[in-house]
Amino acid sequence: MSAFLPSKFPLIQAPLAGAQNSAMTIAVCRAGGLGSLAAAMLPVEKLEQEIQTIQAACDAPFNVNFFAHTMPQITAEQQDQWLSLLDQYFNEWDIDKNNLPQGVIRRPFDENQLAVVEKYRPPVVSFHFGLPEKKLLDAVKATGAIVLSSATTVEEGLWLQENGADFVIAQGIEAGGHRGIFLNQDLSTQMGTFALTQVLSQKLNIPVIAAGGITDVSSIQAALKLGASAVQMGTVYMLCHESTISTLHRQALEQATRQPEKYPTAVTNIFSGRPARGIVNRLMQETGFVHPHALPFPFAATATGALKSVAEKQNDTSFSTLWCGQNPTGCKNISAYDLTMELVQAFL
Ligand SMILES: Cc1cc2nc3c(=O)[nH]c(=O)nc-3n(C[C@H](O)[C@H](O)[C@H](O)COP(=O)(O)O)c2cc1C
Repeated sequence: MSAFLPSKFPLIQAPLAGAQNSAMTIAVCRAGGLGSLAAAMLPVEKLEQEIQTIQAACDAPFNVNFFAHTMPQITAEQQDQWLSLLDQYFNEWDIDKNNLPQGVIRRPFDENQLAVVEKYRPPVVSFHFGLPEKKLLDAVKATGAIVLSSATTVEEGLWLQENGADFVIAQGIEAGGHRGIFLNQDLSTQMGTFALTQVLSQKLNIPVIAAGGITDVSSIQAALKLGASAVQMGTVYMLCHESTISTLHRQALEQATRQPEKYPTAVTNIFSGRPARGIVNRLMQETGFVHPHALPFPFAATATGALKSVAEKQNDTSFSTLWCGQNPTGCKNISAYDLTMELVQAFL
């Protein structure tokens, strides 16, 4: 039905790294939406298996999503400042800061992931944090994939158009999880979903997808009225049966859905080194949400991940990444298929 995306309806289930697998992708695709698979934290062998599972389960088009950041060089001084910032917590939880478990390092799109894209040819490939280097991007496009990427400012939207994206996702400040910000790290100029969608729809020659705070039929229709060709929705899928979030994350999200006044969200760089929105917790509050000594992405996650795993064993979410958008009101404990069937009423 959509003139632009290959799916029946112009509704994308946002890739949700750490919160989904192929089961959610398949459920959304079966209901006529564009299901996404978040690949950023998957080893290549697992990525291959997941794509095989999707292709065996349904014929519908789907999206595979990768990160496109640059790996930073970390200095000894940065490392010291970062570990000093967390010293009190390492002492509190009896953690040896010089011997932290590595955890999963989020790596940018590379030749190995490209080989999987070339082998399985997903109809849509999306990127977060910009686009990969030209050689890799050209190879993805040569497979026939439609390429999407997130913009958090008008400047980023223009850059993505200029550098080869087929669609731009207008990711407003309301959005849950990591901000796609990539041209600078200035959070003060980040825009809301409706303003960004409307301005980008006017400025760009390519279609715009609205993302951030869209949670039901009326907010989908509002985004379309402002010029969006499609919507991408993440938080709303996170209480679905197929969501793979932890029990503690699920409980926090249920509380935020019932009482958003009591469980607000905020943008923080403290967990991974990049700004991301989640339900406010102790580490965010005590470090002031955005701290200059947070180790650059993705390396901050090694230390905060160690704190998280020890504290969660005591049912304590002080250090947990409780990713959630500003508007969790549409979250429901139903299947992603049923939720998508409700949401696509917006297009009927
Ligand atoms: C738990 C979680 C994980 C996310 N992981 C990714 C990801 O791997 N790749 C990506 O492009 N966007 C990711 N996002 C951002 C979404 O693509 C999207 O911008 C956001 O969910 C839209 O806002 P909403 O959550 O208010 O619907 C994530 C969001 C959440 C909540």
